[in-house]
This record gives sequence, C-alpha cells and structure tokens, in this order.
Amino acid sequence: MTGVVSVENLSVVYDDFRALDTASVEIGAGESFGLVGESGSGKSTLLRAIAGLAPASEGAIHVLGRELRGSRREKAFYRAVQMVFQDPYGSLHPRQTIDRQLMEPLAIHGIGDGERRILKALDEVGLGSGFRFRYPHQLSGGQRQRVAIARALILEPSILLLDEPTSALDASVQAEVLNLLEQVRRDRKLTFLMVSHDLGVVTHMCDRLAVMQAGRVVERLSSADLVAGRIGEDYTRNLMVASKGFRRKTA
Ligand SMILES: Nc1ncnc2c1ncn2[C@@H]1O[C@H](COP(=O)(O)OP(=O)(O)OP(=O)(O)O)[C@@H](O)[C@H]1O
Ligand SMILES: [Mg+2]
Repeated sequence: MTGVVSVENLSVVYDDFRALDTASVEIGAGESFGLVGESGSGKSTLLRAIAGLAPASEGAIHVLGRELRGSRREKAFYRAVQMVFQDPYGSLHPRQTIDRQLMEPLAIHGIGDGERRILKALDEVGLGSGFRFRYPHQLSGGQRQRVAIARALILEPSILLLDEPTSALDASVQAEVLNLLEQVRRDRKLTFLMVSHDLGVVTHMCDRLAVMQAGRVVERLSSADLVAGRIGEDYTRNLMVASKGFRRKTA
C-alpha cells in the first residue's frame, strides 16, 4: 500500500447484487487516474465507496495512509478529498447564492477569511466576482460546473474524485472545463480519480486507467498503451470502438 488512494479487493453488495466485486486500484501522489467501463460496471460505486456513500462489504480503502472503515468519514477526510459529480444542477442548492454555497464548507470547517477565499476560488475557476451573488439558475451549465469545482477546491483538498464531470456539457464547454481541471491539477499538484465514458477524455486527462466490467477491474493500462492499441482484453477494445470521443480523436 503505497498510493495516496489505495483500494484493495473492495466489494459493494446491494441485496444480492455485487455492484463492486473485489476491485483494486492504486493511485500515486499527483497522479491522474481514470476509470472506464460500460454503464453499470461500478465506476460511480467505486468513487462513492471511497467517499463513504456506498457500503463496502469487504476489502480495504486507504487514503493518505489512513484506513477508512465503514461509511463514517472524519472531517479531515473532506478537507483532503472532494468529489465533483456529473450534474452540477443537482449538486448545487437551487435557492442559495453561489456565495452562500461557497461559504458553507468554510463555515463547517471553521475556516475564516471567507470573502477573500471565495473571490480567489471564483477567480481560479474563471468566474469573476460578478457571479458571487447569483443563483444556480442564473448560470450556464458550464458556469455551474465551474462553481461546483470552486466549491470542491475551496477547502484546498489534495484529491479530487471526479464522476463524469463534463459529460453533461456541450463539446466546446467540456473542453474548457477539462482544461480548467488540468490547470488546477498542475497548479495545486492534485491527485485525480476520474470517471468518464469517453475514452478520448480519459486518455487526454489521465496517465493510467482501470477498465471495469460488472463490478470488476478487468484491465489496467496506461493511456499511451490504450492510444497505441496495446490492449489485453477484447472488452477494452470494444469500449474503444464504442467511444465516439475516442474515434473522433483518432480519426
Ligand atoms: N444504491 C443502489 N442500490 C442498488 N443497486 C445499485 C445502487 N447503486 C448502484 N447500483 C447498481 O450497481 C451497478 C453499478 O452502478 P454504478 O452507478 O456504479 O455504474 P457506473 O459504472 O457508474 O454506470 P454509468 O456509466 O451508467 O454511470 C448498477 O447495476 C446499479 O444499478
Ligand atoms: Mg456512474
């Protein structure tokens, strides 16, 4: 166990259904790691289990050298690890201003200097102070996702769990948000665990990836290997053929 995120033989069982089946991934500090696989293969479940949102029935999760047990997560966990979801509308409160939603994590963690931090966070994600007192419905989808990223960054985490962070966005906006994520990762030396069904996105953003099928990790490979077609499993090859984003990039 040497990674900053280490998941060993993790299973999540709902009734009799194994949503995650002895899955293991190991992510090094500063690494950007991708999870791909068909719909229902367990990608979100793996992220949710790390965040304590899905019940692990066997296996172990270590984050930053500490074992996480059960579903309880210490406050310190949320300072170190933040999650960004696909649907920024769902993850922002519709009746609270951006200011209030950025202030909330600071208040929970007893962090002062809120105004300066909020302005800095908005600036970092490319939204000026003019957005501060708006409501989510007054923003575009891309702007909402920038707010969700600002909220994830405001506690200065070292690890981001990203579940399809751009798949609800138009292609051009998607590219902008991916560039933003790549830039903050470099600037802040963050570690990413990122789910995407788009292999073009994953190979662009991630150094290595795990391929999931029916709750299991069926293959681990580098983005370079995937792009060059050095693939071990037919399942992975089929995913590549099915991924429109990937075809577009390699055509
Ligand atoms: N709370 C739950 N109760 C019962 N089954 C669940 C629950 N959450 C997920 N599952 C099941 O576990 C399996 C894996 O779901 P998961 O959301 O991890 O897939 P995914 O790989 O993220 O798929 P997608 O690409 O469509 O987002 C699915 O069959 C899903 O129906
Ligand atoms: Mg999912």
